[in-house]
Amino acid sequence: MAPASASPPPEPSSRSPLHWLTAVTDLFAFPLRTSHYVELVNPLWSTHKLQARVEAVWDETRDARTVTLRPGLNWRGHRAGQHVRVGVPVEGKHYTRTYTISSPPERDDGCFTITVKAIDGGRISHHIVRNLKVGDYLPVGLPQGDFYLPDAQPVLPLFITAGSGITPAMSMLRSLIAQQRLPDSVHVHYAPHKFDVVFGKELEQLAAKHERYHLFTQFTRDIDDATGTGQQGEGYFSPEQLEALCPDWREREVYACGPPALLAALESHFEGAGRGAHLHIERFRAEFARVPADAVGGKVRFARSVAEVQADSTTSLLRVAEDAGMNPPHGCRMGICHTCNTTLLSGCVRDLRNGNVINEVGATVQTCICAAAGDCELDL
Ligand code: FES
Repeated sequence: MAPASASPPPEPSSRSPLHWLTAVTDLFAFPLRTSHYVELVNPLWSTHKLQARVEAVWDETRDARTVTLRPGLNWRGHRAGQHVRVGVPVEGKHYTRTYTISSPPERDDGCFTITVKAIDGGRISHHIVRNLKVGDYLPVGLPQGDFYLPDAQPVLPLFITAGSGITPAMSMLRSLIAQQRLPDSVHVHYAPHKFDVVFGKELEQLAAKHERYHLFTQFTRDIDDATGTGQQGEGYFSPEQLEALCPDWREREVYACGPPALLAALESHFEGAGRGAHLHIERFRAEFARVPADAVGGKVRFARSVAEVQADSTTSLLRVAEDAGMNPPHGCRMGICHTCNTTLLSGCVRDLRNGNVINEVGATVQTCICAAAGDCELDL
Protein backbone atom coordinates (compact mmCIF):
# COMPACT_ATOMS: atom_id res chain seq x y z
CA MET A 1 0.00 0.00 0.00
CA ALA A 2 0.95 3.57 -0.54
CA PRO A 3 -1.51 5.31 1.71
CA ALA A 4 -2.08 9.03 1.71
CA SER A 5 -4.41 11.39 3.45
CA ALA A 6 -8.09 11.28 2.67
CA SER A 7 -9.78 14.40 1.43
CA PRO A 8 -12.97 15.59 3.08
CA PRO A 9 -16.10 14.43 1.29
CA PRO A 10 -17.12 16.76 -1.51
CA GLU A 11 -19.94 19.20 -0.90
CA PRO A 12 -22.88 19.27 -3.32
CA SER A 13 -22.08 21.34 -6.40
CA SER A 14 -22.71 25.05 -5.71
CA ARG A 15 -25.19 25.15 -8.60
CA SER A 16 -27.17 22.02 -7.75
CA PRO A 17 -30.71 22.16 -6.35
CA LEU A 18 -29.46 20.07 -3.43
CA HIS A 19 -26.92 22.78 -2.62
CA TRP A 20 -29.58 25.49 -2.49
CA LEU A 21 -31.95 23.33 -0.48
CA THR A 22 -29.18 22.53 1.99
CA ALA A 23 -28.19 26.19 2.21
CA VAL A 24 -31.75 27.12 3.22
CA THR A 25 -32.27 24.31 5.71
CA ASP A 26 -28.83 25.02 7.22
CA LEU A 27 -30.21 28.43 8.32
CA PHE A 28 -32.74 26.64 10.51
CA ALA A 29 -30.26 24.04 11.70
CA PHE A 30 -27.71 26.65 12.92
CA PRO A 31 -25.39 26.31 14.83
CA LEU A 32 -25.29 22.75 13.45
CA ARG A 33 -25.93 21.81 9.84
CA THR A 34 -28.79 19.91 8.26
CA SER A 35 -26.43 17.03 7.70
CA HIS A 36 -26.00 16.59 11.49
CA TYR A 37 -29.74 15.95 11.88
CA VAL A 38 -29.90 13.78 8.77
CA GLU A 39 -27.12 11.69 10.27
CA LEU A 40 -29.40 10.81 13.19
CA VAL A 41 -31.85 9.25 10.75
CA ASN A 42 -29.26 7.50 8.60
CA PRO A 43 -25.50 8.03 9.02
CA LEU A 44 -25.00 7.20 5.33
CA TRP A 45 -27.03 10.26 4.29
CA SER A 46 -24.86 12.80 6.10
CA THR A 47 -22.73 15.09 3.95
CA HIS A 48 -20.46 16.63 6.60
CA LYS A 49 -18.63 13.32 7.02
CA LEU A 50 -18.41 10.13 5.04
CA GLN A 51 -19.27 6.90 6.78
CA ALA A 52 -19.79 3.30 5.73
CA ARG A 53 -21.90 0.54 7.23
CA VAL A 54 -20.54 -2.97 7.63
CA GLU A 55 -22.81 -5.13 5.47
CA ALA A 56 -21.01 -8.46 5.76
CA VAL A 57 -17.88 -10.07 7.14
CA TRP A 58 -16.26 -13.13 5.66
CA ASP A 59 -13.27 -15.02 7.05
CA GLU A 60 -10.86 -15.72 4.19
CA THR A 61 -8.29 -17.58 6.30
CA ARG A 62 -7.69 -18.13 10.00
CA ASP A 63 -6.39 -14.55 10.33
CA ALA A 64 -7.73 -12.60 7.34
CA ARG A 65 -11.20 -11.25 6.88
CA THR A 66 -13.06 -9.51 4.07
CA VAL A 67 -15.38 -6.75 5.22
CA THR A 68 -18.11 -5.51 2.89
CA LEU A 69 -18.82 -1.81 3.39
CA ARG A 70 -21.69 0.29 2.10
CA PRO A 71 -20.44 3.88 1.90
CA GLY A 72 -22.55 7.03 2.29
CA LEU A 73 -23.79 9.50 -0.26
CA ASN A 74 -20.52 11.27 -0.98
CA TRP A 75 -18.59 8.17 -1.92
CA ARG A 76 -17.05 8.05 -5.36
CA GLY A 77 -15.89 4.97 -7.21
CA HIS A 78 -12.34 3.69 -7.00
CA ARG A 79 -9.83 2.39 -9.49
CA ALA A 80 -8.74 -1.20 -9.04
CA GLY A 81 -5.63 -1.14 -6.85
CA GLN A 82 -6.49 2.00 -4.86
CA HIS A 83 -6.78 2.17 -1.09
CA VAL A 84 -9.04 3.89 1.40
CA ARG A 85 -8.65 5.28 4.91
CA VAL A 86 -10.89 3.68 7.49
CA GLY A 87 -11.56 5.02 10.98
CA VAL A 88 -11.83 2.33 13.62
CA PRO A 89 -13.14 3.10 17.10
CA VAL A 90 -11.64 0.76 19.69
CA GLU A 91 -12.33 1.06 23.41
CA GLY A 92 -13.37 4.68 23.14
CA LYS A 93 -10.42 5.77 21.03
CA HIS A 94 -10.41 6.57 17.37
CA TYR A 95 -7.76 5.02 15.13
CA THR A 96 -7.22 5.37 11.41
CA ARG A 97 -5.78 2.75 9.12
CA THR A 98 -5.44 2.45 5.36
CA TYR A 99 -6.55 -0.65 3.48
CA THR A 100 -6.57 -1.58 -0.16
CA ILE A 101 -9.98 -2.07 -1.71
CA SER A 102 -10.20 -5.70 -2.74
CA SER A 103 -13.41 -5.54 -4.78
CA PRO A 104 -13.48 -4.34 -8.39
CA PRO A 105 -14.99 -0.97 -9.36
CA GLU A 106 -17.48 -2.88 -11.52
CA ARG A 107 -19.31 -4.16 -8.43
CA ASP A 108 -22.81 -2.77 -8.87
CA ASP A 109 -24.45 -2.99 -5.43
CA GLY A 110 -22.92 0.26 -4.13
CA CYS A 111 -20.58 -1.62 -1.77
CA PHE A 112 -16.86 -2.21 -1.70
CA THR A 113 -14.69 -4.62 0.28
CA ILE A 114 -11.48 -4.40 2.23
CA THR A 115 -9.56 -7.53 3.18
CA VAL A 116 -7.62 -7.26 6.41
CA LYS A 117 -5.03 -9.61 7.87
CA ALA A 118 -4.45 -9.60 11.62
CA ILE A 119 -0.78 -8.73 12.01
CA ASP A 120 1.39 -9.46 15.05
CA GLY A 121 0.88 -6.69 17.60
CA GLY A 122 -1.65 -4.96 15.32
CA ARG A 123 -4.48 -4.07 17.68
CA ILE A 124 -6.62 -2.48 14.96
CA SER A 125 -6.22 -5.28 12.43
CA HIS A 126 -7.04 -7.76 15.22
CA HIS A 127 -10.12 -5.76 16.13
CA ILE A 128 -11.34 -5.78 12.53
CA VAL A 129 -10.66 -9.48 12.05
CA ARG A 130 -12.08 -10.60 15.41
CA ASN A 131 -14.65 -8.04 16.58
CA LEU A 132 -16.08 -5.95 13.77
CA LYS A 133 -19.69 -6.88 13.14
CA VAL A 134 -22.45 -6.33 10.65
CA GLY A 135 -24.26 -3.05 11.32
CA ASP A 136 -21.21 -1.19 12.65
CA TYR A 137 -20.53 2.24 11.12
CA LEU A 138 -16.99 3.37 10.28
CA PRO A 139 -15.76 6.74 9.03
CA VAL A 140 -14.06 6.31 5.66
CA GLY A 141 -12.09 8.54 3.30
CA LEU A 142 -12.25 8.61 -0.46
CA PRO A 143 -10.28 6.15 -2.60
CA GLN A 144 -6.73 7.24 -3.23
CA GLY A 145 -3.46 6.02 -4.65
CA ASP A 146 -1.74 5.66 -7.99
CA PHE A 147 -1.16 1.91 -7.93
CA TYR A 148 -3.42 0.86 -10.79
CA LEU A 149 -3.22 -0.40 -14.33
CA PRO A 150 -3.11 2.23 -17.08
CA ASP A 151 -6.33 2.72 -19.04
CA ALA A 152 -4.78 3.92 -22.24
CA GLN A 153 -2.29 1.32 -23.28
CA PRO A 154 -2.68 -2.40 -22.67
CA VAL A 155 0.11 -3.97 -20.63
CA LEU A 156 1.24 -7.51 -20.01
CA PRO A 157 1.07 -7.64 -16.21
CA LEU A 158 3.25 -9.66 -13.90
CA PHE A 159 1.78 -9.56 -10.39
CA ILE A 160 4.17 -10.40 -7.58
CA THR A 161 2.41 -10.45 -4.24
CA ALA A 162 2.80 -11.90 -0.77
CA GLY A 163 0.39 -12.37 2.11
CA SER A 164 -2.31 -9.70 2.22
CA GLY A 165 -0.37 -7.85 -0.49
CA ILE A 166 -2.58 -9.79 -2.82
CA THR A 167 -5.50 -7.38 -2.26
CA PRO A 168 -4.69 -4.74 -4.93
CA ALA A 169 -3.82 -7.46 -7.47
CA MET A 170 -7.11 -9.19 -6.67
CA SER A 171 -9.05 -6.01 -7.32
CA MET A 172 -7.21 -5.56 -10.63
CA LEU A 173 -7.77 -9.15 -11.71
CA ARG A 174 -11.45 -9.06 -10.79
CA SER A 175 -11.81 -5.79 -12.66
CA LEU A 176 -10.05 -7.03 -15.81
CA ILE A 177 -12.23 -10.14 -15.82
CA ALA A 178 -15.41 -8.12 -15.24
CA GLN A 179 -14.45 -5.96 -18.23
CA GLN A 180 -13.61 -9.06 -20.25
CA ARG A 181 -10.22 -7.67 -21.11
CA LEU A 182 -7.89 -9.89 -19.13
CA PRO A 183 -4.52 -9.84 -20.93
CA ASP A 184 -1.91 -12.58 -20.66
CA SER A 185 -1.10 -12.26 -16.94
CA VAL A 186 1.42 -13.99 -14.73
CA HIS A 187 0.89 -14.00 -10.98
CA VAL A 188 3.53 -15.15 -8.51
CA HIS A 189 2.10 -15.21 -5.01
CA TYR A 190 3.93 -16.06 -1.77
CA ALA A 191 2.29 -17.43 1.36
CA PRO A 192 3.59 -19.48 4.28
CA HIS A 193 1.20 -22.40 3.71
CA LYS A 194 -1.58 -23.35 1.33
CA PHE A 195 -4.18 -22.61 3.99
CA ASP A 196 -2.76 -19.09 4.43
CA VAL A 197 -3.48 -18.02 0.86
CA VAL A 198 -6.00 -15.20 0.97
CA PHE A 199 -8.54 -15.74 -1.86
CA GLY A 200 -6.84 -19.13 -2.42
CA LYS A 201 -9.90 -20.90 -3.81
CA GLU A 202 -10.90 -18.02 -6.06
CA LEU A 203 -7.37 -17.76 -7.47
CA GLU A 204 -7.35 -21.45 -8.30
CA GLN A 205 -10.72 -21.13 -9.98
CA LEU A 206 -9.54 -18.16 -12.02
CA ALA A 207 -6.47 -20.07 -13.13
CA ALA A 208 -8.61 -23.03 -14.16
CA LYS A 209 -11.12 -20.90 -16.02
CA HIS A 210 -8.92 -18.29 -17.73
CA GLU A 211 -6.08 -19.67 -19.78
CA ARG A 212 -4.49 -16.22 -19.95
CA TYR A 213 -4.07 -16.16 -16.17
CA HIS A 214 -0.98 -18.06 -15.03
CA LEU A 215 -0.83 -18.51 -11.27
CA PHE A 216 2.26 -19.69 -9.38
CA THR A 217 1.75 -19.95 -5.64
CA GLN A 218 4.98 -20.30 -3.71
CA PHE A 219 4.92 -21.58 -0.15
CA THR A 220 7.62 -20.17 2.05
CA ARG A 221 7.23 -22.81 4.75
CA ASP A 222 6.99 -26.55 4.49
CA ILE A 223 3.31 -27.39 4.13
CA ASP A 224 3.90 -30.97 5.18
CA ASP A 225 5.26 -29.96 8.52
CA ALA A 226 3.07 -31.88 10.91
CA THR A 227 4.40 -30.08 13.95
CA GLY A 228 2.69 -26.90 12.89
CA THR A 229 5.83 -24.89 13.51
CA GLY A 230 6.84 -24.88 9.86
CA GLN A 231 10.25 -24.96 8.26
CA GLN A 232 11.61 -22.42 5.91
CA GLY A 233 10.87 -23.62 2.41
CA GLU A 234 12.40 -22.68 -0.90
CA GLY A 235 9.59 -20.46 -1.98
CA TYR A 236 11.16 -17.05 -1.37
CA PHE A 237 11.83 -14.79 -4.32
CA SER A 238 15.05 -15.25 -6.24
CA PRO A 239 16.09 -14.16 -9.75
CA GLU A 240 16.45 -17.82 -10.73
CA GLN A 241 12.96 -18.59 -9.54
CA LEU A 242 11.52 -15.65 -11.49
CA GLU A 243 13.38 -16.75 -14.62
CA ALA A 244 11.89 -20.23 -14.25
CA LEU A 245 8.32 -19.11 -13.54
CA CYS A 246 8.13 -16.18 -15.92
CA PRO A 247 10.88 -16.26 -18.56
CA ASP A 248 9.48 -13.17 -20.34
CA TRP A 249 9.56 -10.96 -17.21
CA ARG A 250 11.65 -8.39 -19.08
CA GLU A 251 8.67 -7.68 -21.34
CA ARG A 252 6.13 -7.21 -18.57
CA GLU A 253 4.92 -4.39 -16.31
CA VAL A 254 5.35 -5.62 -12.78
CA TYR A 255 2.85 -4.83 -9.99
CA ALA A 256 4.21 -5.85 -6.62
CA CYS A 257 2.81 -5.64 -3.11
CA GLY A 258 4.07 -7.43 -0.03
CA PRO A 259 6.42 -7.16 2.92
CA PRO A 260 9.51 -4.90 2.81
CA ALA A 261 12.02 -7.76 2.31
CA LEU A 262 10.28 -8.96 -0.84
CA LEU A 263 9.93 -5.44 -2.23
CA ALA A 264 13.60 -4.66 -1.51
CA ALA A 265 14.66 -7.85 -3.33
CA LEU A 266 12.47 -6.95 -6.30
CA GLU A 267 13.78 -3.38 -6.46
CA SER A 268 17.34 -4.58 -6.40
CA HIS A 269 16.72 -7.19 -9.09
CA PHE A 270 14.70 -5.03 -11.48
CA GLU A 271 16.94 -1.99 -11.10
CA GLY A 272 19.98 -4.17 -11.66
CA ALA A 273 18.40 -5.43 -14.86
CA GLY A 274 17.58 -1.89 -16.04
CA ARG A 275 13.84 -2.55 -15.55
CA GLY A 276 13.27 -0.33 -12.53
CA ALA A 277 10.82 1.90 -14.41
CA HIS A 278 8.60 -1.11 -15.09
CA LEU A 279 8.33 -2.14 -11.46
CA HIS A 280 5.31 -0.61 -9.69
CA ILE A 281 5.28 -1.08 -5.95
CA GLU A 282 2.60 -0.67 -3.30
CA ARG A 283 3.89 -0.65 0.28
CA PHE A 284 2.12 -1.59 3.49
CA ARG A 285 4.38 0.47 5.67
CA ALA A 286 7.33 2.84 5.56
CA GLU A 287 10.73 1.40 4.90
CA PHE A 288 12.92 2.06 7.92
CA ALA A 289 16.71 2.32 7.94
CA ARG A 290 18.73 0.34 10.46
CA VAL A 291 18.86 2.22 13.76
CA PRO A 292 22.51 2.70 14.87
CA ALA A 293 23.58 0.23 17.55
CA ASP A 294 24.48 3.05 19.95
CA ALA A 295 21.17 4.88 19.50
CA VAL A 296 19.29 5.65 22.68
CA GLY A 297 15.71 6.57 23.39
CA GLY A 298 14.74 9.00 26.10
CA LYS A 299 12.04 10.73 28.05
CA VAL A 300 9.31 12.06 25.73
CA ARG A 301 7.22 14.92 27.03
CA PHE A 302 3.93 15.65 25.28
CA ALA A 303 3.46 19.28 26.26
CA ARG A 304 -0.24 19.83 25.51
CA SER A 305 -1.27 16.51 26.97
CA VAL A 306 0.93 17.06 30.02
CA ALA A 307 2.27 13.55 29.75
CA GLU A 308 5.78 12.18 30.03
CA VAL A 309 6.87 8.67 29.10
CA GLN A 310 10.06 6.74 28.53
CA ALA A 311 10.57 5.65 24.91
CA ASP A 312 13.14 3.48 23.16
CA SER A 313 15.00 4.42 20.00
CA THR A 314 12.93 2.34 17.58
CA THR A 315 9.27 2.80 18.54
CA SER A 316 7.51 5.56 16.64
CA LEU A 317 6.44 8.55 18.71
CA LEU A 318 2.90 8.01 17.46
CA ARG A 319 2.87 4.54 18.99
CA VAL A 320 4.49 5.87 22.15
CA ALA A 321 1.73 8.47 22.47
CA GLU A 322 -1.01 5.90 21.84
CA ASP A 323 0.50 3.52 24.37
CA ALA A 324 0.47 6.39 26.85
CA GLY A 325 -3.30 6.61 26.45
CA MET A 326 -3.34 9.58 24.07
CA ASN A 327 -5.31 9.79 20.84
CA PRO A 328 -2.99 11.77 18.55
CA PRO A 329 -4.02 12.66 14.99
CA HIS A 330 -2.74 10.27 12.36
CA GLY A 331 -3.57 8.85 8.97
CA CYS A 332 -1.32 6.64 6.87
CA ARG A 333 1.22 5.80 9.60
CA MET A 334 3.95 5.67 6.98
CA GLY A 335 5.15 9.24 6.48
CA ILE A 336 3.01 10.24 3.53
CA CYS A 337 -0.08 12.13 4.65
CA HIS A 338 1.45 14.46 7.30
CA THR A 339 -1.67 14.22 9.47
CA CYS A 340 0.56 13.34 12.40
CA ASN A 341 2.81 16.41 12.07
CA THR A 342 3.72 18.18 15.27
CA THR A 343 6.44 20.58 16.44
CA LEU A 344 9.64 19.78 18.28
CA LEU A 345 9.81 21.99 21.37
CA SER A 346 13.14 20.69 22.63
CA GLY A 347 15.50 17.73 22.43
CA CYS A 348 16.13 15.29 19.66
CA VAL A 349 14.22 12.76 17.54
CA ARG A 350 15.30 10.42 14.74
CA ASP A 351 13.61 9.98 11.36
CA LEU A 352 13.45 6.19 11.19
CA ARG A 353 13.33 6.15 7.39
CA ASN A 354 16.79 7.59 6.90
CA GLY A 355 18.31 7.79 10.38
CA ASN A 356 18.54 11.61 10.26
CA VAL A 357 18.45 13.28 13.64
CA ILE A 358 16.11 16.27 14.04
CA ASN A 359 17.15 18.60 16.85
CA GLU A 360 16.12 22.06 15.72
CA VAL A 361 13.56 23.65 18.01
CA GLY A 362 10.45 24.41 15.95
CA ALA A 363 11.13 21.67 13.40
CA THR A 364 8.21 19.60 12.15
CA VAL A 365 8.13 16.06 13.45
CA GLN A 366 6.09 13.30 11.77
CA THR A 367 5.32 11.19 14.79
CA CYS A 368 4.55 8.06 12.77
CA ILE A 369 8.07 7.76 11.36
CA CYS A 370 10.17 9.39 14.11
CA ALA A 371 11.46 7.92 17.36
CA ALA A 372 13.08 9.47 20.40
CA ALA A 373 16.82 10.10 20.08
CA GLY A 374 17.32 11.24 23.66
CA ASP A 375 14.95 13.31 25.77
CA CYS A 376 12.55 15.43 23.77
CA GLU A 377 9.43 17.54 24.06
CA LEU A 378 6.67 17.69 21.46
CA ASP A 379 3.81 20.14 20.99
CA LEU A 380 1.25 17.40 21.28
S1 FES B 1 0.27 9.42 9.82
FE1 FES B 1 0.56 9.94 7.74
S2 FES B 1 2.49 10.94 7.80
FE2 FES B 1 2.23 10.25 9.81
